[in-house]
This record gives sequence, C-alpha cells and structure tokens, in this order.
Amino acid sequence: MVLALFFLAGAKTIMVFTPFLYKEVVDRLALANTDPNLVVLVPVAIIASYGLARFMSIAFAQLRDMTFVRVSQHALRRLALETFRHLHELSLAFHLDRRTGGVSRIIERGTRSIDFLMRLMLFSIFPTIIEITLVTVIFLKLFGLAYALVLLAGVLLYAIFTFRITEWRSHIRRTMNKEDTLAHSRAIDSLLNFETVKYFNNEAHEADRYDDAMGRYQEAAVKGQSSLSLLNVGQALIIATALVIIMIFAARDALAGSLTVGDFVLANSLLIQLFMPLNFLGVVYRELKQGLIDIEQMFSLINTDLDVKDAEDACELTTTGGEIEFRNVSFSYQSERKILQDISFKVPAGGTVAVVGPSGAGKSTLSRILFRFYDIQAGTILIDGQDISKVTQKSLRRTIGIVPQDTVLFNESIRYNIEYGRPGASDKEIDEAASHAQITGFIKKLPEGYETIVGERGLKLSGGEKQRVAIARSILKDPPILVLDEATSALDTATEREIQLALKDVAKNRTTLVIAHRLSTVVEADEILVLDDGCIVERGRHGALLAQDGVYAAMWQRQQEAEEARLKLDVLEPGDKE
Ligand SMILES: Nc1ncnc2c1ncn2[C@@H]1O[C@H](COP(=O)(O)OP(=O)(O)OP(=O)(O)O)[C@@H](O)[C@H]1O
Ligand SMILES: [Mg+2]
Repeated sequence: MVLALFFLAGAKTIMVFTPFLYKEVVDRLALANTDPNLVVLVPVAIIASYGLARFMSIAFAQLRDMTFVRVSQHALRRLALETFRHLHELSLAFHLDRRTGGVSRIIERGTRSIDFLMRLMLFSIFPTIIEITLVTVIFLKLFGLAYALVLLAGVLLYAIFTFRITEWRSHIRRTMNKEDTLAHSRAIDSLLNFETVKYFNNEAHEADRYDDAMGRYQEAAVKGQSSLSLLNVGQALIIATALVIIMIFAARDALAGSLTVGDFVLANSLLIQLFMPLNFLGVVYRELKQGLIDIEQMFSLINTDLDVKDAEDACELTTTGGEIEFRNVSFSYQSERKILQDISFKVPAGGTVAVVGPSGAGKSTLSRILFRFYDIQAGTILIDGQDISKVTQKSLRRTIGIVPQDTVLFNESIRYNIEYGRPGASDKEIDEAASHAQITGFIKKLPEGYETIVGERGLKLSGGEKQRVAIARSILKDPPILVLDEATSALDTATEREIQLALKDVAKNRTTLVIAHRLSTVVEADEILVLDDGCIVERGRHGALLAQDGVYAAMWQRQQEAEEARLKLDVLEPGDKE
C-alpha cells in the first residue's frame, strides 16, 4: 500500500507540472514568430521532456494499480470468505426463509463494490483534493485572485450539484438492487425445480414470472440511466461555464500584455486537467453511493445475528456411552403453532428407541432439535448428562450421525459424497463403508465407478441409491449416536432387509434413534414411542404395545394386512420408490 501511494504521488506530481513544459514550448515558438531575428533554440529538448512526462505519469499510474491489486484482492478474498463462513453459521431457519439465488447475488454485488470503493477512495478522492488545492494555489500565484475565485466557485458548485443529484438518485439504485435480487432468486428457484416445471408444463408460467421481475428491473435501470445523463449534462454545463469565464479573463490579459500566449495555454491545460479528475470525482461519489448501497446489503447479511449461538462458556461435549435424554421438551417453529409438547424419553447408551407416528407428527423435528438446528422453548435435551445448549455446536454435531429423510447430495463424485462423512478417509475405509451400505454392487456397475458425478442435488441417482450413499457416509463418520430418519424408506423390500441387517450391525454399540414408517423395521427396539400431533400417545416395547391394543396395534394391523395383500399379488420387487 505504501508503495502504491508512492507511485500515486509520482504520477500526480508529474501530471500537475507537465503543462508548464507545454507553456514553455508555446512561449518560445511565439517569441520566434514575433521577432524572426531572435535566435531561439528549437525547443526539441523541451518537447521531448513533455512527451516523457506524459508517458511517466501514465506509467506511474499503472505501477500503482499493479501494486495495489494485491492489497485489494486480498481484502476482497477475506471478506468473501468471512461472508461465506457466516452464511454457514446462520441457522436453518434463516436459510429456509432466504432464496439462495438472492443471497449469492447480494454477495457478488457487495464484494465487487468493495474492490471498487477501495481503489476509488485511495486513488481518486484523496489525490483529487490535493490536485485541486495545488492548481488553485498555482492560479493564485500566477494569474491572480479573480482566476482562483472563479475556479473555486466552479469546483464548489460542481460538488454541491453532484452530491445533491446523487442523493436523490440513490433510491433508484436501491430499487434496481431489489429487483435484480428478485429476478435472480426467481431464476435460480425455477431452475432448481426444473423437473417440476416440466411435469406441469409450466415453462410459460416460469418465463412470465421471470420476465415480470426483469421488466421491473428494466424500468428501474432506465430511470437510473436517465437520471445519470441528467447529472452528466449538469456537470458538463458547470465545467464549461467556469472554463469559458477563465479563458475570457486569460484572453483579455494576454491582449493587454500581462500574460504571454504560453500562459493562456497553461491556464487552459491546467483547467482541463483539473476538471478531468473532478469529473471523475463526480463519478466516484456516484459510485461510492451505489457501492455503499450494495455493500450495506452484504453487511446486513454479515450482521444477521445467529439464532442458535454457542453459550459464552460452552465447553466440548464429552461422550461416554452416548445416552440421549429428552426432558419435558416443548418446541415450535413459530410461536403460533406448537409442534412438540412435553416430550420426555431416554435412549440408554448403546440402546435403540424408535419413533413412529403419522406424517407431520413431529418425528423429523426431534432429530433437528437434537442437532440443535433450533433452540427449544422449554425443557432440556441431554447427551450423557450434558445439556446440549451448553456445549459447542461443533462438538455436539460431531457426536451425532444422521441418515436424513431426504438425502441431498453435492454435485460431485460418489467418492466425494461418501468421503464427506469423514474428509481424509482412505480408499479402503470408503470402500468398506460403501459395502456396509450395500452400494458397492451398484458402484461397480457404473462405467466410471466411484468417480461418477451424481448431478445437481444428487438427482442422477435413484432415491434408494441416494439413501445408501447417505448411509455409507454416516457409517464412515462413525459417531457414537446415530439418527435414522426413515433410513430405508426408499428401498425395495429385498434391499431393505439387507440394509436393515447392515444397519443393525452398525447400530450395535451405538445409541440409535430410529424414525420409521414401516413398523416391521422397529420391532426389536428397546422402546417404541408413538408420536401424534407432537405428543407421545403410547410407549413401550412392541409386544406390550400390541397387547395394549391402541393406536400402535391398529397401525400394526393395517400394515400387516397390506403386507399380506402384497404377497398375495406376488409383487415382490416393486423397485425403488420415489
Ligand atoms: N421450518 C419449519 N417451519 C415451520 N413449520 C415447520 C418447519 N418444518 C416443519 N414444520 C412443521 O412441523 C410439523 C412436523 O414436521 P416433521 O418434519 O417433524 O414431521 P414428521 O413427523 O417427520 O413427518 P413425516 O413422517 O411426513 O416425515 C409439520 O406439520 C411441518 O409442517
Ligand atoms: Mg419426517
């Protein structure tokens, strides 16, 4: 940065004094004209210095940019990284409310502006102010008070005009940003739902929605450009007026003989040279305003408070056996609607508890709050006797592995997605995990094997294959606690049975919370909780629950009948669901 400033000073100094060389040339030529008898040295040397000076001022400016780019790019990278990290720290609730397309747009605009602003602040505003001062002093010394006053008046008027108009324009910029973000969010959301759009033949509808957003952006952009043109015309008028007045002064004084022709030329060059960066200063102020507006959105992202925070004195979670306890837990996503009410249960270390119940009962919610994606409103969740809200989120999440209900994969290779469970795992370990999850057979069939790219969100794999990748990566993570949220729902009966065996093997010596629709998969659980509308309505072992002849027994009955009907129809291998 110091080096850049040095180059900047060099460029500016040479630039301000270049017109003096020019004046010298003009004066000598004029002298030669008026008095042909006078021997005038042909000012070749001076002309050459003039050329050199012009070249040097440009060269210094480029050196300055070359030096500074290191500083600005470094800062830019840090800021982008900071924002990215923060986005990953924000809660699930924040991300569910946001649109990914919009967020990425805000970051893009923000970082771009910051780079721009840093350069402008340092290299335009500061040096231009110095240049204005310098030129005013030169005018005062060489040409007198009147010149300096006109010059200052011009500069002031110019500044006031520019600031006023730019203030007025900034709301247009805000609208432009808003519409830009909206259009971008819509485009991304629509593309993410590509399949759905096709299923429902709604391309035209999607195009209309996008066009609608783009239309409003267009309107704002047109307004932005028109007001910008107005600003530019106004600025040009002020500059031209000041220039004309000073030139008239100089012409008069040149005729009167108190100034030489060279002085006249000098005044002109200095003015033009001064107004050039001044004009630029107008642009700078404008861009500064725009940049600040762009950045303010990014900073509001960065400043978004975390909903789920580590406690001040959070310590590491230490697991001994991995016992989970829910103690009178109540939870709701929004205060108006209760999801879980007064839930208490315990999964003994190494044991298995199953949660069953109708859709929307709050089963997956149990796993989300166990991971502390949300803070609960009442009660406590403990792991090995430690309140999970008092330990670091990092250590908590390290302890739990999950096979989620809908697996979403990264658009990378199968190997990458499995290795995600424990980055740095060896090929052998990956292969073992895959074979536990019964997916090696499938991988072998692929022409590119482990290197097959799974497509956006993993959509190039079938539901069952995705689920097995998810199982493999949880096996690789090897956590003391395992949550299986309908881990085998997307598999056909034969594969399901095999994986059940594998999972049983994996669950051995691990505390396991199983969420299941198919009751046949949970008959061996230490305890089965029947969850309905956020309350535990029945609990106990399979046999006891059947004997109770309540909700569970009825569910079991229904599923048995369905199973028998299926066997009768001999539909043994219905293939992957989903
Ligand atoms: N982020 C959220 N904001 C508001 N409500 C939510 C949110 N996530 C889930 N819900 C609601 O919470 C309730 C419980 O959801 P949950 O995912 O726990 O159901 P579930 O028992 O797993 O159902 P399923 O068997 O269909 O998977 C649902 O009614 C759902 O609409
Ligand atoms: Mg669920």
